[in-house]
Amino acid sequence: MPWPDRSGGAWAEEARPFVVPSAMALVHDAAPMETFPFWFSLATTVVLLVAALISGWQRKRRLHLWLGPLVMVSLGVTIWLTEELVRRYDFPEDIKRTHLWFAKAGGMLALPVIVTGFALWRTEKARVAHKVAVWVWLVSVLVATGTGFWMFSHGTLR
Ligand code: HEM
Repeated sequence: MPWPDRSGGAWAEEARPFVVPSAMALVHDAAPMETFPFWFSLATTVVLLVAALISGWQRKRRLHLWLGPLVMVSLGVTIWLTEELVRRYDFPEDIKRTHLWFAKAGGMLALPVIVTGFALWRTEKARVAHKVAVWVWLVSVLVATGTGFWMFSHGTLR
């Protein structure tokens, strides 16, 4: 498989499969230390997210009430670091618009998770609502992450 064209910062047109090369472009185009905070923050968010899911399922409420909000903060930091990276790349307008649509949807869908989470703290009746909100939000976050990597795979370092 051809390697990213460092001079242009992008992958050769015929060699752009979906997720893996896009992540590779992020690794190879920019200096490693500049992308480290982004990768570290992304990995932290994934670990916290899995831990929040497990603690919720196991009904470890005290732990979950720390992990749930921490996931939101960590995701916020990752989005902020992604914005910093985005400023250093040029993207095709249509792809950027598509990703931004899903990214905003993912951001907004975090609100029902927080609201139903606090409701569930008070009343058992909110359990189904929290579960539904969590799964809808997780799907939206996955799609936003996927389209984000897709966007970077079509980006060129300025
Ligand atoms: C501000 C954020 C959040 C609050 C206040 C919150 C609150 C709660 C509470 C009070 C419970 C009940 C635990 C028990 O039964 O003792 C719960 C369950 C649960 N939460 Fe959250 N949560 C939040 C965020 C999240 C996030 C981000 C996720 C996913 C990563 C999540 C996934 C779950 C799951 C899967 C359950 C178990 C539902 C079930 O199957 O009964 N929560 N949450």
